[in-house]
Amino acid sequence: MLNRPSVCVVGLGYIGLPTAAMLANSGHAVVGVDINADVVDTINGGRVHIVEPDLAALVGDVVRSGSLSASTEPVAADVFLICVPTPFAGDAGTPTPDISHVLAAARSIARVLVDGNLVIIESTCPVGTTELIRDELAAQGVQVDRVRLAYCPERVLPGRILHELVSNDRIVGGIDEASSAAAAAFYRTFVKGSVPTTSSRTAEMVKLVENSFRDVNIAFANEISVLSEHLAIDPWEVIRLANRHPRVDILQPGPGVGGHCIAVDPWFVVAKDPATARLVRTAREVNDAKTEWVIAQVRATAAAIGAGLPRPVRVACLGLAYKPDVDDLRESPALRVALSLAAAGIEVLACEPHLTEHPLLKLYLMEDAVSESDLVVALVRHSQFIGLSFGDRRVLDYCGLTASATPA
Ligand SMILES: NC(=O)c1ccc[n+]([C@@H]2O[C@H](COP(=O)([O-])OP(=O)(O)OC[C@H]3O[C@@H](n4cnc5c(N)ncnc54)[C@H](O)[C@@H]3O)[C@@H](O)[C@H]2O)c1
Repeated sequence: MLNRPSVCVVGLGYIGLPTAAMLANSGHAVVGVDINADVVDTINGGRVHIVEPDLAALVGDVVRSGSLSASTEPVAADVFLICVPTPFAGDAGTPTPDISHVLAAARSIARVLVDGNLVIIESTCPVGTTELIRDELAAQGVQVDRVRLAYCPERVLPGRILHELVSNDRIVGGIDEASSAAAAAFYRTFVKGSVPTTSSRTAEMVKLVENSFRDVNIAFANEISVLSEHLAIDPWEVIRLANRHPRVDILQPGPGVGGHCIAVDPWFVVAKDPATARLVRTAREVNDAKTEWVIAQVRATAAAIGAGLPRPVRVACLGLAYKPDVDDLRESPALRVALSLAAAGIEVLACEPHLTEHPLLKLYLMEDAVSESDLVVALVRHSQFIGLSFGDRRVLDYCGLTASATPA
């Protein structure tokens, strides 16, 4: 365990904190850096600010043992990992990537970099970002030919992060061959998957292509679902039967696409070359339009039911998270549906078993939400909802919760 390089992890969120804790647990001396002082205090207290299986116990252990500490300022280390957010800016037209946090992180470590250091960007970035970071480091006075710089995208699945950090293959894209070799050697000390090397631009594109692939395939399922409904055909049955073809594997439709990766990263592709990235853009638009279609269908159904009632119609919204079995609401289409219905004056009985409260919606237990409602809208296929009885209530199923979506 001796002679492992010391590591400074910049950005202690869903990616940076599990990475820092895992490295500390495997024998590296790790300092985690975050501009949020509350996050730093929480971690130095041996606690966590994000929900991820087994993370709290691991952070407690490595902080107590002294192998992980947190700071608001970068410190000298052998290896620097940049794990800061890369959101997009602007809603209208083509949203553009915001790499300001990555640039700020690079400027902050420039002060402590010395010859022979290895800098790795793990944040999801538009193609060309690693080259921009090299230029930014040079502008800060760093002798960039004396440090190694690489891009290595993270592709872990929330809920399985500590496992996948080690088991997944990692793509390493160095700014030059020496950087690729140095970064690959670092990952090979803890990654059990393979670690192929390539250029930084290719590695940046690989990450964006992965999430665009998912978005395009989900868009196909979502488009089929709307087309089928317009033709009075059960979309779940169509997809289930089509998937009996040996070379067809259509994904399941949903109320849209959420989360901060698949709903965001394809725009990084589109922004680089809008004239060419037509399919990627269209997939984004199809998936966003699915949410609006769901809202319109629920509103119309609720209005029809409400016309026969002496009181406002009550709609149970099952699930607010962006995908099953997580508490994450970022870019969630389910949340957007529920908020939009509430804004339209519909009484929403929201149920999200992973949350105890929401600032804008009153949360109900799932049985209460169903029993007190006139209409049930299934938005997220949480495990807790499977097998839930709806009696004779009308159910609009946008996530495959009811029988026809289940393979025979
Ligand atoms: N969460 C995932 O499942 C996932 C998966 C693959 C890739 N990614 C990518 O990894 C990157 C990080 O994502 P995340 O989910 O961990 O984000 P996050 O928002 O959970 O955490 C980022 C942290 O960085 C801190 N930060 C911001 N600017 C900083 C700076 N200049 N210096 C130090 N700290 C700073 C923030 O305070 C925050 O605590 C993003 O590019 C994301 O797209 C995320």
